[in-house]
Amino acid sequence: MAETKTPGFAISDKKHTRSDDFGGDNILSAKKQMLSAASTWDDPAATLAAARHEFGEHGGVNMSIEASATFTVMEPETLSRMFTGELGPDRDFFIYSRHFNPTVLNLSRQMAALEGTEAAYCTSSGMAAISSVLLQLVSSGGHIVASTVLYGGTHALLTHFLPRACNIKTTFVDMSDLESVRNAIVQGRTKVLYFESISNPTLRVANIPELSRIAHEKGVKVVVDNTFAPMVVSPARLGADVVIHSISKFISGGADIIAGAVCGPASLVNSMMDLHQGTLMLLGPTMNPKIAFELSERIPHLSLRMKEHCHRALVFATRMKKLGLKVIYPGLEDHPHHTLLKSFANKEYGYGGLLCVDMETEERANRLMHHLQNSTQFGFMAVSLGYYETLMSCSGSSTSSEMNDEEKAMARISPGLVRMSVGYLGTLEQRWSQLEKAISRMQDSGSFNKY
Ligand SMILES: Cc1ncc(COP(=O)(O)O)c(C=O)c1O
Repeated sequence: MAETKTPGFAISDKKHTRSDDFGGDNILSAKKQMLSAASTWDDPAATLAAARHEFGEHGGVNMSIEASATFTVMEPETLSRMFTGELGPDRDFFIYSRHFNPTVLNLSRQMAALEGTEAAYCTSSGMAAISSVLLQLVSSGGHIVASTVLYGGTHALLTHFLPRACNIKTTFVDMSDLESVRNAIVQGRTKVLYFESISNPTLRVANIPELSRIAHEKGVKVVVDNTFAPMVVSPARLGADVVIHSISKFISGGADIIAGAVCGPASLVNSMMDLHQGTLMLLGPTMNPKIAFELSERIPHLSLRMKEHCHRALVFATRMKKLGLKVIYPGLEDHPHHTLLKSFANKEYGYGGLLCVDMETEERANRLMHHLQNSTQFGFMAVSLGYYETLMSCSGSSTSSEMNDEEKAMARISPGLVRMSVGYLGTLEQRWSQLEKAISRMQDSGSFNKY
């Protein structure tokens, strides 16, 4: 990782606004006790509760939005001390909001607490987080080993954009074939091993501890996209170096914001902010502080939302399987990675909020989605995930359409694969009866085969 002269910071309780009144010091020490309890506690919700709480400028329970592009100082020398890196955000000195911004930093602290990493920083989208991390860790001529099954945009970035624009090449490997992963790593040239904790769209689960061990033996950094499994899986606690999120999904929960985050060591975040070499500072995929504020208000109920997404996904997957559908869900015992996920998933969060139904042909997939949306109002035909309504799409012709037929076959994306992000609005039984009715209509018209 590049050395940095940028004003640095680490995640800590160093400063707590309003420590003078409201018994600030007691709050601080209570939080410190919680933090040490959280380190032995297997639940990201505990770590989140123990993270520093930022109060508003006038004592508000929520922090004030620092909606400033630039920041003033009392003395002229202070500016130059900030630019040499002597004074930084850890001491409440800010330069310009493309660099650190206090409100974005507050959300970033929450993201670091969620993932159990030393630091984090938020970006304008998930793709901004992915491209910025890869460009920070891999230089021209470098090599990446990545999973054959990835979100279509990431696949396109690795297959087309990075080789053309940056001379960075990727070898795609099935992450469940550990020997092939080991063989694909070219010591000295491979810089990153990249995969998704639970893959989009096929819901395969990566063996994060083993993959991290293999990569680290060869000096390779492990970058994991955890968009499908916030709270459910904690990749950094399992050995990954960097955790990426598309916050646009479960973490936002509202399908109204595009955002991302990079969670990892403070040295990485600082290098990405470096005034001479940092991808966040120089490519500028900056998050707006007003967006950061909105998102920071949603993180406290992420754990509740995830539990309900996951609970309903398990119930629906189990019942759909009983009806004879070909269901893919890591919570089902017949899923090839069920035991693996169970071994490292955080307790009480379940197995993820997405399930897939393989209708084998695109035509049958489309008919099922038509009934689910237009006949029984079970959910919406739309890409994306993590919304309170169920969203469904046929992956091969939508979010994975960047892949050619051979790549889709390698990724095991069937043309009739319907991906569902299970929502929690309404009662479970109300939603199940809508789902069941749509399946009955498919059965009546003879359009699905039982398994
Ligand atoms: C797994 C995964 N990672 C990253 C992204 C990109 O995120 P964003 O749309 O926020 O740029 C997506 C988008 O669908 C995704 O599904």
